[in-house]
Amino acid sequence: MTIAPTQRPKFTVPMLATCKTAQKKIAMITAYDATFACIVDAAGVDIILVGDSVATVFQGERTTLPVTLWEMEYHTRLVAKTRPRAMIVGDLPFGTYQVSPELAVTHSVALLKAGAECVKLEGGIHMASAIQAITRADIPVMGHIGLTPQSYHRMGGNKVQGRTDGIDPGGRDRLLEDAHAVEQAGACALVIEGIPGELAHEITEKVSIPTIGIGAGIYCDGQVLVLHDALGLSGRSFSFTKAYAALRTTSIDAISRYVDEVRTGTWPDDSHTFH
Ligand code: KIV
Repeated sequence: MTIAPTQRPKFTVPMLATCKTAQKKIAMITAYDATFACIVDAAGVDIILVGDSVATVFQGERTTLPVTLWEMEYHTRLVAKTRPRAMIVGDLPFGTYQVSPELAVTHSVALLKAGAECVKLEGGIHMASAIQAITRADIPVMGHIGLTPQSYHRMGGNKVQGRTDGIDPGGRDRLLEDAHAVEQAGACALVIEGIPGELAHEITEKVSIPTIGIGAGIYCDGQVLVLHDALGLSGRSFSFTKAYAALRTTSIDAISRYVDEVRTGTWPDDSHTFH
């Protein structure tokens, strides 16, 4: 397996702040294994997110809720083995940081031991104590607010947030408070998912840490996509994502040709045969 090129500098946590100051956009994408970690790193991404979206795009689950810490450690380890120039962020799965700040630290330590360089967790005001405890243990934390897929049942599905005023969860004013709480708790960056572009713009201007958007418009300090969506592998399409390739169709075509050639006896031929 090709090890990632070493020409560019390793992307590190302090570089997040530099990017915000220099207005250099941050490109983040998910990967869950060594093959794709090498590919996205060779393409020059700044950050590889070992996202809990592994549950839906890789494990075939309906939501991100079932994925376990052990599975996140496993996928983080696969990505870390490739020693990418990109920074590795590991998602804390549902149930591993909500119970107590102490458990949040213990579980973040597990992801760092697996090779993550930063952890990500979902939630605003209510997760500030967990973020504070983790950062006090010298583990960088990325926040995640807006459409937080682990809140699937509270939201009644993966619904766009921030379209109503008010301080109830998902309200516009609450999201501004959530962003400030995450920043004040010591997070190094903030993923903003599924909110109106105008609100994401306001948050991006008001917080000192970089915002990384998905379905949050053009004004964030960076963007993140789920790899399988970007490659057109997942077979799902959302208005806020972009498929830069059609690998699902390409793969089905390739495997159909293989099946045909086996059935017609045209593969293998003599050139693929040992003598
Ligand atoms: O798990 C994931 O892929 C994510 C991104 C959608 C931000 O959290």
